[in-house]
Amino acid sequence: MRVTVAGAHGQVALLLNRRLTDAGHDVVGLVRNPAHLDEVEASGARGVVCDLESASSEDVGAAVDGSDAVVFAAGSGPGSGPARKDAMDRAGAELLARAAGSAGASRYVLVSSMGVETVRDSAPPSAGAEDVFTSYLRAKLASEDAVRATDLAWTVLRPGRLTDGPGTGQVTLAGRVEDGAVPREDVAAVLVALLDEPRTSGKVLELVAGATPVDAAVAATVRD
Ligand SMILES: NC(=O)c1ccc[n+]([C@@H]2O[C@H](COP(=O)([O-])OP(=O)(O)OC[C@H]3O[C@@H](n4cnc5c(N)ncnc54)[C@H](OP(=O)(O)O)[C@@H]3O)[C@@H](O)[C@H]2O)c1
Repeated sequence: MRVTVAGAHGQVALLLNRRLTDAGHDVVGLVRNPAHLDEVEASGARGVVCDLESASSEDVGAAVDGSDAVVFAAGSGPGSGPARKDAMDRAGAELLARAAGSAGASRYVLVSSMGVETVRDSAPPSAGAEDVFTSYLRAKLASEDAVRATDLAWTVLRPGRLTDGPGTGQVTLAGRVEDGAVPREDVAAVLVALLDEPRTSGKVLELVAGATPVDAAVAATVRD
């Protein structure tokens, strides 16, 4: 299938592009910075420049046109403040989801984050009164709520703290898991398995390192 990966030059995304390509999928990688096109193409994807904070709906629609599935793996990253948490992590994800729906993509996987439930019922802050991590969680939660409100066959994946260690191929994956970390390589493996299992549509899944092989962990979520 054709999979469009947003944030395709990100650390998880580069691993994901390679895994999807190796599995025989046609991967389109959306990048913010044209200087990253070569590296994204070296990971197996066809690179397309698309800045989710400045592109129009039409531009994003054209970028995802023809996709069977879309993955949001972008992020404002460390060093950004509350304004970019809102512009990228919330609004960028919402823009991509709307474009995916309009383009008729049948699957949408949102990389969110563990911890978002901690801000669900907290009162909106007064201006400037919130730390950046809380702004990030609030933006991620809003992006989840927006995706859930679409007609897309969506899956939300909430990884714990990402690490760069080698993947183990073994994870803990469920609706709620204890806080923990997970290698980016294993996040990429889980994303591929979620795309391969449409019955994970409509599920919100938390992910940390664990002891269950990825395919078995994904299969268990559809038996629950
Ligand atoms: N770090 C953690 O511990 C953690 C935990 C849970 C979930 N997450 C989430 O997991 C996902 C993947 O994380 P990661 O570490 O792979 O992220 P990353 O390496 O920071 O990559 C994020 C990518 O998003 C791109 N991006 C930024 N602004 C953009 C825009 N306006 N339009 C299009 N692309 C844009 C960046 O582009 P440039 O290369 O041009 O900067 C970068 O390639 C993110 O959604 C993150 O929030 C992270």
